[in-house]
Amino acid sequence: MKFLTVAASALLASSVSARSSLFGSSIEVAPFDEALKVPGDNPLQHCKDPKDDILDLESVDLSPNPPKPGKTLTITATGTLSQNVTKGATVHLQVKYGLITIVKQTADLCETVKNVDLKCPIEKGEMTLEKDVDLPKEIPPGKYHVIADVYTKDEDKVTCLTATVEFKRGGGSVVHQGLK
Ligand SMILES: *[C@@H]1O[C@H](CO)[C@@H](O)[C@H](O)[C@H]1NC(C)=O
Repeated sequence: MKFLTVAASALLASSVSARSSLFGSSIEVAPFDEALKVPGDNPLQHCKDPKDDILDLESVDLSPNPPKPGKTLTITATGTLSQNVTKGATVHLQVKYGLITIVKQTADLCETVKNVDLKCPIEKGEMTLEKDVDLPKEIPPGKYHVIADVYTKDEDKVTCLTATVEFKRGGGSVVHQGLK
């Protein structure tokens, strides 16, 4: 759900921010761990064992996976929230471009989820999300690591997700489409 917005907006934002300020890095990107992978066709994994998370993610599908610059990214996700998520929830977002941190910010979750047509309070229980996001053509090629750490206003963990997406020069779409 929201992390997807976050991941998508992070990728969007990164094409802009790459040209502006640089921040020191702090969160390490975990190596890929099959046990932590989010089910579905996506590059996401949990930062750590999600058993105590408020959000239980059943599946996330991205199309195309991985996302491609200049293409519409379709996101479909389902999950279950064990509590209402209300105003005051936050998203700690970090985006690295290679080894360089290009985005490091804390955002209002309720503002962020408007991008995927959700609004607060997000009621507990089963939820589904479908959203098309138009990715800009001019995302600088390279490897992007995204970390989104989401907390309620009482600082309970909702979810923490990471993804690594590599954009190839020229969109990488022609070569890769035939292989996928
Ligand atoms: C969750 O939100 C719904 C709708 O806003 C409300 O009716 C319900 O009482 C809330 N539950 C809790 C435990 O706060």
